[in-house]
Amino acid sequence: MLEFNHKCPICLENVQYSFNEKNILSNISVKVESEGITGVVGPSGSGKTTFLKLINRLISPTKGRILFNGEDTTFIPVKQLRKKIGLVQQRPFLFPGTVKDNLLYGPNIWKIKYSLDELYSFLSRVALPPEFLNLNVENLSSGEQQRVSLGRTLANNPQILLLDEPTSSLDIVSEEILETTLRELAREKIKIIIVTHSLEQTKRLTDQLLFLKNGRLIEKINTKTFFDRYDEKEIRRFFKAKSIHGEN
Ligand SMILES: Nc1ncnc2c1ncn2[C@@H]1O[C@H](COP(=O)(O)OP(=O)(O)OP(=O)(O)O)[C@@H](O)[C@H]1O
Ligand SMILES: [Mg+2]
Repeated sequence: MLEFNHKCPICLENVQYSFNEKNILSNISVKVESEGITGVVGPSGSGKTTFLKLINRLISPTKGRILFNGEDTTFIPVKQLRKKIGLVQQRPFLFPGTVKDNLLYGPNIWKIKYSLDELYSFLSRVALPPEFLNLNVENLSSGEQQRVSLGRTLANNPQILLLDEPTSSLDIVSEEILETTLRELAREKIKIIIVTHSLEQTKRLTDQLLFLKNGRLIEKINTKTFFDRYDEKEIRRFFKAKSIHGEN
């Protein structure tokens, strides 16, 4: 059993998630560091998306509990929880309408007003030019939709940002802008948990790493320690789905 303190933004206690009697995540206990960017890595199907969905309460644990600043998320009204913990999904889901409609969706619920300049600054943080504001989202490319989805989450001023492969459909330039934005947000004390398949992005962006495999958390490690401790071959092998301890 881990020791949890109230400053921990996200803690999982013995969390299990099963679907049709299959364990998708098993017995996960982890305290996510409050500082910096945490990467969630592991092979396809290892449970990374499920891990993020549990934190945002799109799904609920079959066993165990998840704490947000020391409070069991089950007891936090879901709208409030999702304002504070924003999730940008792997396949972006946008509301029908314009980019502006999407950016203002959360702020309208909470009666937060933004000036035009503030809306443009959300767009620029996600590498979109101002003229996108009045475009209909159904005509945007998947990479543009991915960025609108992140912009919409940022407009809620979340305390925690959960990102599921946010740069998977982006070109290098947009990816760089987005990574700069994420680093700025982390400096502004927004806790970021990012799922990524990219070894290079892991190295560039993250401070800690959680390794998932077959629904289990097999390693929690400081990113620098990870890259110092293991040689390149071992690191590459792990990113290709093998455990860093050698077993399959
Ligand atoms: N609602 C569900 N119903 C059935 N199976 C599910 C459900 N959600 C997840 N799974 C299964 O659980 C496992 C973990 O899925 P998850 O989407 O969390 O993996 P992932 O690590 O995000 O993979 P990827 O890197 O491909 O996105 C997969 O085998 C998936 O098929
Ligand atoms: Mg996934």
